[in-house]
Amino acid sequence: MAQGHGEARGRTGRWTKGVLLLGGWLTGCAAQSPSILAPVSPKGRAEAELFWFILLITAGVFILVETLLLYAVFRFRARDPQAVPPQIHGNNALEISWTTATAVGLAVIFAMTWRTMAATSQPPADAMPVKVIGHQWWWEFQYPTLGITTANELVIPVGQPIRAIVTSADVIHSFWVPQLGGKMDAIPGRENTLWLQADVEGVYYGQCAELCGISHANMRLQVRVVSASEFQRWVEAQRAPVAQPADSLTQQGYQIFMSKACVGCHTIDGTPAQGKVGPNLTHVGSRTTIAAGLLENTPENMARWLEDPPAVKPGSLMPRLGLTPDEIQALVAFLSSLK
Ligand code: CUA
Repeated sequence: MAQGHGEARGRTGRWTKGVLLLGGWLTGCAAQSPSILAPVSPKGRAEAELFWFILLITAGVFILVETLLLYAVFRFRARDPQAVPPQIHGNNALEISWTTATAVGLAVIFAMTWRTMAATSQPPADAMPVKVIGHQWWWEFQYPTLGITTANELVIPVGQPIRAIVTSADVIHSFWVPQLGGKMDAIPGRENTLWLQADVEGVYYGQCAELCGISHANMRLQVRVVSASEFQRWVEAQRAPVAQPADSLTQQGYQIFMSKACVGCHTIDGTPAQGKVGPNLTHVGSRTTIAAGLLENTPENMARWLEDPPAVKPGSLMPRLGLTPDEIQALVAFLSSLK
């Protein structure tokens, strides 16, 4: 009896949680939850308009069908269970009209979808190229015209169209920043083009949208949209040579980085570290997050990551390197200095 009571309470608890989750989802109150219905780009706006247009048509159909159904249920209900209703064999006029209406409705939706796709599939001719490369489990961004390579945080100037050339280094990923428009598959050996543009400064969150392994959900990214002058400053800082170690701890961190496995996977421009497997760390100190957006870029989090990467990001290709606390402290000082 007591057990039955507990089960009932468990069920109620699950229901309450479900309703709360649904409520949170419907009102979009989840922290940093980006929505395709809050677009900040021409492409995103066109897609959101198409969504509302299709919703309007389908909602009209739903209301019409449900109204007729309810009317029929009440108006023609059997008052005498014994009575045989009038026997009819189809109604040509009705059948032709609802088939035609459905076909016309679908044709209109098709035409509107086609128009939106044609208008948004290619970026404007003056777009700045950025190569977006999906990796298990982080994003690489290369600016071929600027000679910059960074990771997980795409910085772009406000109002500037970007030609994102999307590809992958391993398995299929999908690049998706909801407020900037639709998804684009990142396929190894293939380059897909996506028009990115943001007309409002701010930070827009994105996420890999194609199951790509154990840390698929941990493959996040940010698009930081800044003014033209701030972008120029960012470009200059990114192209500046790597900072020289300023104190002995930083110097020690530099030595550890160059003598341990780090150099096999990471590049720091202007140093012997030229690995291409993991993110380019030349200016890692200037990023706001580490580990593909999982952790804020603080010394504590950097230490946590260096101590045991797979504990932070399951499946992480960066293994636990068995660094001592002293080594970690020196590495954190060095990496944080790379602004
Ligand atoms: Cu990459 Cu999912």
